[in-house]
Amino acid sequence: MRAPETTSWHSASWQTRPAQQQPVYSDPRALERVVAHIARLPPIVVSWEIEALRSRLAAAQRGEAFLLQGGDCAEVFADCESDTIAKKLKILLQMSLVLLHGLKKPIIRVGRMAGQYAKPRSADTETRNGVSLPSYRGDLVNGPEFTPEARAPDPELLLRGYERAALTLNFVRALVEGGFADLHHPEYWDLGFVHHAPLKDAYERIVRSIGDALDFFEGISGRRVHEATLVDFYASHEGLHLHYEQAQTRFIPRQNRWYNLSTHMPWIGMRTAGLEGAHVEYFRGISNPIAVKVGAAMDAAWLQGLVTTLNPQNQPGRLTLIHRFGAKDVAAALPKAIEAVRQTGQTALWVCDPMHGNTETTTGGIKTRRFENILKELDLAFRIHADMGSYLGGVHIELTGDDVTECTGGARGLTDHDLARAYRSTVDPRLNHEQALELAMLIAERSQSRRADKRATTAPG
Ligand code: PEP
Ligand code: CO
Repeated sequence: MRAPETTSWHSASWQTRPAQQQPVYSDPRALERVVAHIARLPPIVVSWEIEALRSRLAAAQRGEAFLLQGGDCAEVFADCESDTIAKKLKILLQMSLVLLHGLKKPIIRVGRMAGQYAKPRSADTETRNGVSLPSYRGDLVNGPEFTPEARAPDPELLLRGYERAALTLNFVRALVEGGFADLHHPEYWDLGFVHHAPLKDAYERIVRSIGDALDFFEGISGRRVHEATLVDFYASHEGLHLHYEQAQTRFIPRQNRWYNLSTHMPWIGMRTAGLEGAHVEYFRGISNPIAVKVGAAMDAAWLQGLVTTLNPQNQPGRLTLIHRFGAKDVAAALPKAIEAVRQTGQTALWVCDPMHGNTETTTGGIKTRRFENILKELDLAFRIHADMGSYLGGVHIELTGDDVTECTGGARGLTDHDLARAYRSTVDPRLNHEQALELAMLIAERSQSRRADKRATTAPG
């Protein structure tokens, strides 16, 4: 294994390493111009927000908070509109309310948004009727239409993506700052559907119970509980396109460190987590809290190499490990992963992504995920961490605030036949708003019953 280097890092040092999943631009000078242009623009986030998130993630790592990270598999430029963004924010806020109620811990809300525009692909090219073109790699790189013009990687799209990321986060900040995220007003997040959803009563009970608790606390303390702060909502995306990430990577003299100022919390995807690769080289040098996806192909030595290379100081809140083994493999793979990290003597925040290990294709050829498998993986993950004296400190979910039919199951019992009705994702299937809320309720319920079991077993007999 390569010894971790600490001195020779700079924001472009990744370019000396093999970089997976990068588009090939026909005009490298044009790419350089765009990267230089983005570097001159104001950043999307600032270092003190990033540091605030890191300390909140450190609390989650200690078991004192819980991370809710969610959003689209891939944002598309056409969805950069107020309604879609507000709906996504609403479902995340509703889920966080339900989780707060059930877990009795502060919920750290992190969107997969404002920059989630680039996708890893299993092949560099796609062939249709004997014609091969570059694969669609997300709106940051090229267009989905199967034409040579659309599929040619265009560096200008990096700029368009950066602008949309800024527009998105600007709107989210304005909503949050204006009181939209205030627990006193959950009616602001009403998605309409709650009036006729199978979960309506349960959700309304939770809203009332939180309202009562706030009234009680504010009554006895004479103080108002303040939930709405400027950045009570953070942004994250997969740090896949390294020229894009490099462009806003800056040395902040006041902090004496480098930061990626295009997002609060970038993560390394499964396909780009090679120890010798460009992504690990880039990520080791930025001071943001970072995450890595952990899949079944990662053996102990690989995982240990990531932990020691990416967080050599063992800084709390720095490294989140997002495991995504799938309901079938989690029971075999997770204990080994927990043990491997334990052997390094380092700590990390463990988060479960119950989506990416549970993707399947229907007999009709549609990519889907079954709600029961998503829930099963989460259940097993909570149990395994608890049994091993570890803590599952968050969930990572692909979801949308819209009424799509991409995943099956849930309280409305969507079947394979329903998938055709409102399948809009061009990449992975997302939970719709009802399924996402139901998942939060089930996580919360199970956590409450685990706490009750624990109380029963520890009560004096
Ligand atoms: C994703 O999060 O959309 C993704 C591609 O995940 P993974 O890297 O875990 O496959
Ligand atoms: Co995905």
